[in-house]
Amino acid sequence: MADRTVAFLGGGRMGEALVWGLIRSGGRTREELMVTCRREERARDLAERLGVATTLSNPEAVKSAPTLVLTVKPQDMETLLGQIQHYLSPQHLVITFAAGIRTSFIERFSPKGMPVVRVMSNVPVLVDEAMSVISPGSHAGDKHLAVAEELLSTVGKVIRLPEKHQDAVTATSGSGPAYFFLLAEAMIEACILLGLPRNVGTELIIQTMLGSAKMLRDTSLHPVELREMVTSPGGTTIMAIRHLEQAGVRAAFLNAIDAACRRSAELAIGHEPEDEPK
Ligand SMILES: NC(=O)c1ccc[n+]([C@@H]2O[C@H](COP(=O)([O-])OP(=O)(O)OC[C@H]3O[C@@H](n4cnc5c(N)ncnc54)[C@H](OP(=O)(O)O)[C@@H]3O)[C@@H](O)[C@H]2O)c1
Repeated sequence: MADRTVAFLGGGRMGEALVWGLIRSGGRTREELMVTCRREERARDLAERLGVATTLSNPEAVKSAPTLVLTVKPQDMETLLGQIQHYLSPQHLVITFAAGIRTSFIERFSPKGMPVVRVMSNVPVLVDEAMSVISPGSHAGDKHLAVAEELLSTVGKVIRLPEKHQDAVTATSGSGPAYFFLLAEAMIEACILLGLPRNVGTELIIQTMLGSAKMLRDTSLHPVELREMVTSPGGTTIMAIRHLEQAGVRAAFLNAIDAACRRSAELAIGHEPEDEPK
């Protein structure tokens, strides 16, 4: 096995975005990458566009690469593991992307001692601005987390957290882009309510979100301090804030994210008592 070869099992949106990120950043050469697909047509398309080897055979990929990144949907994970379990060795590193699939579930299909790292990423992976959180399974150590970190840092930011936090991560950064998209949608509708053309409203809101996100990231100021910068006494912003607070927007976020976290725990596959969030 070539040491640096990485095989992506499940060449969908996430798999493709990660392979692109690695190629663009120089993290891996095309020769060091491989992608598996379920359909011939998709395999041909990816091979042409990405210039990497593709195959319909998951065992072939497992035999060729020491690092395996599982990017199938959660509902396809059991079938995939069934296809590869007899080809896995303790020398493999398995990095799993599937939401709600616990490392203990993957470990049940794996030879004893094989390291598994779980990742929760988010959709901005498509624009190299992902927030990825990685957690070690029972046999994964620092060097395995470092490999996951190296691969994921090509498409955004990466932090390490224990697996017990993955439901909270799913509910916040995992689902988070949807909350921001909903906010954008509502604010664009408000522009239309006020008589602005849709394209103008869209531009105003997108640029405002982007500028605000950059201020949050690049200044060391707390969100409260930044909000106070645009909330003058008796002014327009405080009038709007009063309505948002009266509507319970803050509490709605707390309740919504709490509900998403509970749902993530309910949907988790590989649930065992010792996995319970503490
Ligand atoms: N997209 C996101 O924003 C996001 C965020 C966080 C986490 N994730 C996780 O990332 C994973 C991938 O998501 P995605 O959006 O990339 O899904 P996706 O576009 O559906 O990609 C999954 C790919 O895997 C292929 N596949 C299924 N079973 C296979 C098998 N046995 N062997 C080879 N290929 C197989 C599918 O083939 P077909 O084309 O035939 O269906 C599909 O192309 C999911 O587990 C998801 O939970 C995604």
